[in-house]
Amino acid sequence: MSDGPALSNLSTETRHFDPPAELAENANVTAAAYDEAKADRLVFWETQARRLEWTTEWDEPLQWEPPFAKWFVGGELNASVNCVDRHVEAGNGDRVAIHWEGEPGDTRTVTYADLHREVCKAANALTELGVSQGDRVMIYLPMIPEAVVAMLACARLGAPHSVVFGGFSSDALRNRIDDTGAKVMITADGGYRRGKASALKPAVDESIEGTDVDKVLVVRRTGEEVPWTEGRDLWWHDLVDGQPETHEAQAFDSENPLFILYTSGTTAKPKGILHTTGGYLTQAAYTHHAVFDLKPETDIFWCTADIGWVTGHSYIVYGPLANGATQVMYEGTPDTPHKGRFWELVQKYRVTIMYTAPTTIRTFMKWGDDIPDGFDLSSLRLLGSVGEPINPEAWMWYREHIGHDKAPIVDTWWQTETGAIMVSPLPGVTSTKPGSAQVPLPGISVDVVDESGSPVGNGGGGYLVISEPWPAMLRGIWGDDQRYKDTYWSRFADMYFAGDGAKKDDDGDLWLLGRVDDVMNISGHRISTTEVESALVSHPKVAEAAVVGASDPTTGQAIVAFVILRGSASEAAEDDPDAGEALIQELRQHVSKEIGPIAKPRQVMLVPELPKTRSGKIMRRLLKDLAEKRELGDVTTLNDSTVMDAIGDKVAAGSSGED
Ligand code: WTA
Repeated sequence: MSDGPALSNLSTETRHFDPPAELAENANVTAAAYDEAKADRLVFWETQARRLEWTTEWDEPLQWEPPFAKWFVGGELNASVNCVDRHVEAGNGDRVAIHWEGEPGDTRTVTYADLHREVCKAANALTELGVSQGDRVMIYLPMIPEAVVAMLACARLGAPHSVVFGGFSSDALRNRIDDTGAKVMITADGGYRRGKASALKPAVDESIEGTDVDKVLVVRRTGEEVPWTEGRDLWWHDLVDGQPETHEAQAFDSENPLFILYTSGTTAKPKGILHTTGGYLTQAAYTHHAVFDLKPETDIFWCTADIGWVTGHSYIVYGPLANGATQVMYEGTPDTPHKGRFWELVQKYRVTIMYTAPTTIRTFMKWGDDIPDGFDLSSLRLLGSVGEPINPEAWMWYREHIGHDKAPIVDTWWQTETGAIMVSPLPGVTSTKPGSAQVPLPGISVDVVDESGSPVGNGGGGYLVISEPWPAMLRGIWGDDQRYKDTYWSRFADMYFAGDGAKKDDDGDLWLLGRVDDVMNISGHRISTTEVESALVSHPKVAEAAVVGASDPTTGQAIVAFVILRGSASEAAEDDPDAGEALIQELRQHVSKEIGPIAKPRQVMLVPELPKTRSGKIMRRLLKDLAEKRELGDVTTLNDSTVMDAIGDKVAAGSSGED
C-alpha cells in the first residue's frame, strides 16, 4: 500500500446552479438553520422534536454513552398518532394522504380520515391476535396501501415491525423471522410486477415452517388461489374489516423500538438495524420538511422506493405522513405497461416533488430522451436522488429532461443505519453542483478523515465519518451489541464509520465516492470506482458504467470497465463490430483525458446490463470475478440472475480494447 492519500481526488466540476428565486424566497428552511444548529446542536434538535406531538415532554435531549445513544430521554409519544390522528384532529381528514396506483392501472384514494380508520381497525385486529408492546411483527407485502396501514398499526401498538422486501426469497425471509423471533406475519396473496401477478404467500409458507410464527394475516390483492392453513392463516378482510373504527393509542417511551430493518449484506449474515421512536421520527420529519421543502397543502410528493427499504420507511411512511403530505404510491415497475409509466404518473397526479435513485435515472437515459419528453412534467419543482453516487452527467440529464432546467436537485446521502438524510443541499439555500451531496444538514456533524482518523483538508479524499450522535441513528444491531461496536465504531475511535469513501472539493463540498471495499489500487494510487464511472458516463454515448480493479501483473490492479451505451449508440455498436472497437478506444481515451492517464481503463466491455442488488446498487464484486476470470461468487442477492450470463456471453464474444 502507498502512503499517499487514502483516496485520490481526480475529477473537478465547475458547473453550479443557484436555487430558483421563488423557491428561495418561500423556502421552509433558510441558511439561518445552519447557524442555529451551530450555536447549540441539542437545542436545535429539541426545536425540531417539537414538530411532533408528545404526550410527555423529555427530561434531556441526549444521553450519550458511546456508542449507545438515547434521544429525548423520558419523553413519550405515539408515532402512529403523529402520522395520522393529529392531522385529522387539525381538520385535515379530507386531505389525500395516498394517491395509490396499482400496476394494472387500478387506483385508490386514501384520505387522512380513511387512513385513520384503517390503521385503527388494523391495530384492533393485531390486538386480537395478541400483539402488544415489544412484539415483533413481520411485514412482507407488495406496494399497496395496506403496507403503510400495517406499519402504522404496529407502531400504534408499540410493536416493532420488520418489513421484508417482497422480492426477497423465502430463505431471506426465514433468516429475518428467526432473528426477530416474530410470531405474526402480515402478507398478501401476491402483487403485480411486470404485468403479471406475482405470488407472495407460497414463500411465506415455506419460510415459517418451524419458526415461532403462528398467525399469518393475508391481504387479498391478486385474487389468485393460495395455499391455506386453517387456524394459522386469516384473511385481512375477514379479520380487519369488521373491527371498530377507533382505537385509543397509548404513548410509548421515546426509545421504544419502532422497527428493525435488515441490510442485505452481500455475503455476511444480514444485520437487523434497530430504530426507535422519538429521535427517528424527529429527524425523518425534519429532513422531509427541510430537504424537500414540502408544503403539505399544495405539494404532491412521490418517492419511488419500495416500502421494504429504509427510503420507503422514512420517505413514504414516517417523514411524509408526520408532515401531513399528499403523496403518490405506485405498485409496479417503471416499464409496465410501457417505458413512460413514471412520467405518465407525474403528469396524471401533477407530482411536484420526486425522489428516486441514480440507477433509475440511468435506466431512463438508456431508454432515450424521447420517452420523458413525451409527457407534461411541468408540475415538478424539486427532484431528489438517493442510493448511490449520482454521476454528474446523470444529474444533468435528470435536471434537463425531468426538471426542465428549473427544478433543483437534492442529492441526499444517508443509510439504513442513519435512519434519515444526513448530507444534502437545502433547495432554497445551496448552489448545487452536479454529482455532489454537498454539506451535512444542520445539526449533523460529518467529516472526511484519512487512515489515521485526521480530517483531510479541502481537495483531499478519505473516509466519511459521523462525529456526533444524531437523532435517527441506529440504536444497535438487533440482539448483537458486539457486532454493532465492531462494525461501525472500531475503525476510528469515537466516530461512526459509514463504509463510504468521500472527498472534499476546493469549496469544502462533499463528494461521495462509493464503498471503500470497492476502491481500486492502481500502481499504488487509491482510486474510487465512482470517479472513473462518472468520467465514462460523461461521454455522450454512455448511459451507465461500472468499473472494478482486476489483478494485474504490472500495476497491481488495473481498471476494467463495463459500459452500457445509450439507445442509438448501442444499436450502432451492435451492427458494426469495427464501430464498437473504435468506440471502446474512444472511451479509454476519454477517461484518460477527463481525469488522467492513471485512470485509463485497461479494458472496456460493452454490455447490455449490469448486475444489481434488489435495491438497485451495482454489485461490482461479481464483475470483478468476471474480470479476473474466476468462478462467480454468491449471486443470491442479485436482482436478476440471468444478467451475469448475458454479460458473460458478451465478454467472451467481444473485444475489450486491451493494449
Ligand atoms: C450509498 C439508502 C452516494 C452509500 C438510503 C451508503 C449513496 C449506502 C447516496 C446506504 C448518495 C446512499 N450518494 N452514495 N446520495 N445515498 N448511498 O442502507 O454507499 O440502502 O452507504 O440506504 O448507499 O444504502 P442503504
